[in-house]
Amino acid sequence: MGINDTHLIKKGLSTTRKWWKEQIIYQIYPRSFKDSTGTGVGDLRGVIEKLDYIQSLGVTSVWLNPIYQSPNDDNGYDISNYCEIMEEFGSMDDFDELLAGLHKRNIKFIMDLVVNHSSDEHEWFKQSRSSRDNPYRDYYHWWPAEKGKPHFRWSFFDNKGEAWKYDEQTDAYYLHYFSQKQPDLNWENPKVRQEVYKIMRFWAEKGVDGFRLDAFQFVSKDTSFPKWSDEYENDFSHIIPTHGMGPYLHDYAREMYDEVLSKYDVFAVSEGVGSSFEDAHALVDEDRNELQMAYHFDCVDMGVDVDNPQTLPQFKDIHSQWDKSFAEKGWLSIFLANHDLPRMVSRFGNDAPAYRDASAKMLNTFLLSMRGTSYCYFGDELGMTNISFETIDEYKDIAAINGYKKAQHNGEDLDKFMRNLKAFSRDNSRTPMQWNSEENAGFSDKTPWIPVNENYQHINAQAQENDPNSVLNHFRKLTELRKQRLTLVYGSYELLEAKHESLYAYKRELDGDTLLVALNFSDQPQTLSLNSLTLSDNTLINNYDSINSSPEALTLAPYQAMIIEAK
Ligand code: GLC
Repeated sequence: MGINDTHLIKKGLSTTRKWWKEQIIYQIYPRSFKDSTGTGVGDLRGVIEKLDYIQSLGVTSVWLNPIYQSPNDDNGYDISNYCEIMEEFGSMDDFDELLAGLHKRNIKFIMDLVVNHSSDEHEWFKQSRSSRDNPYRDYYHWWPAEKGKPHFRWSFFDNKGEAWKYDEQTDAYYLHYFSQKQPDLNWENPKVRQEVYKIMRFWAEKGVDGFRLDAFQFVSKDTSFPKWSDEYENDFSHIIPTHGMGPYLHDYAREMYDEVLSKYDVFAVSEGVGSSFEDAHALVDEDRNELQMAYHFDCVDMGVDVDNPQTLPQFKDIHSQWDKSFAEKGWLSIFLANHDLPRMVSRFGNDAPAYRDASAKMLNTFLLSMRGTSYCYFGDELGMTNISFETIDEYKDIAAINGYKKAQHNGEDLDKFMRNLKAFSRDNSRTPMQWNSEENAGFSDKTPWIPVNENYQHINAQAQENDPNSVLNHFRKLTELRKQRLTLVYGSYELLEAKHESLYAYKRELDGDTLLVALNFSDQPQTLSLNSLTLSDNTLINNYDSINSSPEALTLAPYQAMIIEAK
């Protein structure tokens, strides 16, 4: 079935068709995808080796986490040169070959752009910290010590949670919202912004198709650095309005649009879009001429306490509210996992052997049937699970290691801290891709930088390749369907049975095409009343062999997921 802009307009949707809205983005954590050199670390040639696999998934874009030169304090999110490739990952020739290989297969490429901060090993920072009158001094945020200690600011990765770091060399503090080795760039300095646009042009000229703007909501901040009220200062949940979404954010985004985004056929997705729908719309609505796609944190932050997990009605409510707010204007990304989150099947499905496959297929059905651009994290097409480290010395991630130190420093309950880490640590999703049942899961000849999940013997791409019922082949059916049925991309969304504790069901509709998506998020059978909906015999997706339906109701087996044509 084909649609064009006229159809969308006829349906009363102000949404215009754009290639970036229709993407199925496959996110690759390059450190963990495929090691081609026997170092235990994945690399660009490893991704090149796997291009045919990537193409076989039916995805249309690849987003790689940062591949620039970096001392790797935060695995590449601390960049020391924005126009060079990290040595561990390969060379610029490798990058060019990778990009050409993707484009040859009609797959687009999204670059991760980390410009809220650089590495402290970037030449700009080395200069900036060397003297107070260095021309690069104002590239970063400095607070001279003679003004006293600056007012408290949170840091995500600091071992005491503080974002100001005293630097003896010039008797001043610098600001780092992330680790001490990730000083925040000063966007109020127009030279900094021009540097950023220059970097973006460099990559756009090479032919990249999009930018994921890391931590973008923090680039504009109140640089008078006032003292916040105790209520705000002591409550981390206020971090977005107090630390980001500053007065010039929209000026910067508009300038970026004018200088770069409008000049190439590229899009930008903002990681973080403030704390309300209005904030998000102001950044991404088309008539704003700023950024193109929002990535909000409501699902990321939901239920991240092992003793107080999220409920399905909450999950449905968040997705439905966001969808409603963006139904006619603006555009969202849909994701359930990434390199900052645990594995989706462990978090939202059920990773016990009896239900792992069914629930992974069910979650992929969700990801590929919602309105918005789908982001699929590598390994989720196989149903890879959390590694669930037990002790702090097993962790590799700076957020875990320094988070533990901070919890110790603050006298927090360490047992509780460790239980949360086990469930939500970023390392859970950073373990190597499980290619086959050979040593190190076929990821590397050498001991990998982070252990392979022991379940690689039965969860791996090779084993799933020839099984028509595997999670992998189910994923392929879904990408194929999403590409054929634009109803899944652009169609209206209507939530059914909003309060149901275990079922997530919705209707998608575009230009006479009506689809029912029915997902059972529980390990018990559940019944959905069909009310006025009539199902056809055309079941497009089903992760079980059969369907249990009557004209009045559809009964779903544990974690069953279906997409059915309806009237
Ligand atoms: C973003 C990235 C995360 C990184 C942080 C600092 O949230 O997704 O991985 O650690 O920014 O760059």
